[in-house]
Amino acid sequence: MIRLRAMAADGALAFPVVAVNEALTKHLFDNRYGTGQSTIDGILRATNILIAGRNVVVAGYGWVGRGIASRMDGHGAHVAVVEVDPVRALEALMDGYQVMTVGQAAPWGDLFVTATGNVNVFRREHFEAMHDGAIMANSGHFDAELDLAALREMAEGHVREVRENVQEFDIGGKRLNLIAEGRLVNLGAAEGHPAAVMDMSFANQALAAEYVVRHHADLEPQVYVVPEAIDAEVARLKLAAMGITLDAMTPSSSPTCPAGSTGRRLDDRRASRGRRRRHRAVRELGFTDRGGAGRRDGARAGRAVDRRRRRLLARGPPHRGRSPDAAAPHAGRRDAGADAGTVPRGQPRARVRGRQLPGGRRSGRRLVVPGRAAVAPVRRR
Ligand SMILES: NC(=O)c1ccc[n+]([C@@H]2O[C@H](COP(=O)([O-])OP(=O)(O)OC[C@H]3O[C@@H](n4cnc5c(N)ncnc54)[C@H](O)[C@@H]3O)[C@@H](O)[C@H]2O)c1
Repeated sequence: MIRLRAMAADGALAFPVVAVNEALTKHLFDNRYGTGQSTIDGILRATNILIAGRNVVVAGYGWVGRGIASRMDGHGAHVAVVEVDPVRALEALMDGYQVMTVGQAAPWGDLFVTATGNVNVFRREHFEAMHDGAIMANSGHFDAELDLAALREMAEGHVREVRENVQEFDIGGKRLNLIAEGRLVNLGAAEGHPAAVMDMSFANQALAAEYVVRHHADLEPQVYVVPEAIDAEVARLKLAAMGITLDAMTPSSSPTCPAGSTGRRLDDRRASRGRRRRHRAVRELGFTDRGGAGRRDGARAGRAVDRRRRRLLARGPPHRGRSPDAAAPHAGRRDAGADAGTVPRGQPRARVRGRQLPGGRRSGRRLVVPGRAAVAPVRRR
């Protein structure tokens, strides 16, 4: 997604993309519980080691890393996390794990599992520091998270298959074991995730594809988040399939949640407000959402979009809008030709989020800006 967003920002993305991995019902379950379990499955099938009491190093404390760390912990391992993101490192620490640098972890660990989405997390100097019999597995990015070229070079051909899916690299009196050739261990040495978690990932993909079919005319070559309604529907169907029924929020259930609210996390609600603002701005003004912000910073991105939207409204036409008004913006209007930066004497001003916009008039709770089809909500005073 990082690469696709960078392409969108450079104008190099040729078609709209829906970030299915960012749907809650994808990464919270597939990445965390699916990969967490199947990674252990692959390691155990390949090595048949006892995890209890071992020092296990998990590189990356994202959704995959969290799942692996918690499952290793559940099996009785001593878990250390290697991270580059300070917030995630802190989270790992407060979840009860040790946090180390790769250099500190290399001589400490018995088993190393990578899940960063990055390349060459463990390199020559780390292989040199690992102890005899250390085991390495990757569950992240293709076979790129371990510097395998360096490992092969260090072994100078002294590589043998000690068990099915386990290669032993003799790097000069010290043997390092690599599972599934450094490829995704849960796929290389096990069967991947159970169907009971992939169902949600595939449902998200199918429903996101349907969304694109239905809305392609409105979509730009940008990265879109999965609509919240799809996420909620997938979760609802999954719960129903598991025979779980839910309570609904009532007005008296919670004084802080409005009736009818799903009571979702504040972060999510803020993020969806951000998404709604972006979608509204794209719809009304036709500008592209270059930020492509994800769920975590949706509210901030939403505010940025609001600012840009207000700037465009204040600047006046012509702008890239799809509305019929945008084509002939001032035709037949009583303020035709008015300078967008000034408000003709006597003409009403309207206040939008604490700012005066020229030439607006109120229509109920909305501000109608002459010359544009766009309308903005008027803040209640
Ligand atoms: N094996 C599977 O079946 C499976 C399933 C889902 C995802 N994945 C893959 O797992 C990887 C991680 O996915 P995720 O959802 O957890 O991503 P994520 O972005 O949530 O987490 C990745 C974490 O790794 C950290 N990181 C990045 N570079 C690092 C480095 N050099 N050293 C230490 N930490 C580093 C990041 O700060 C981040 O916290 C991705 O490559 C993804 O494609 C694999």
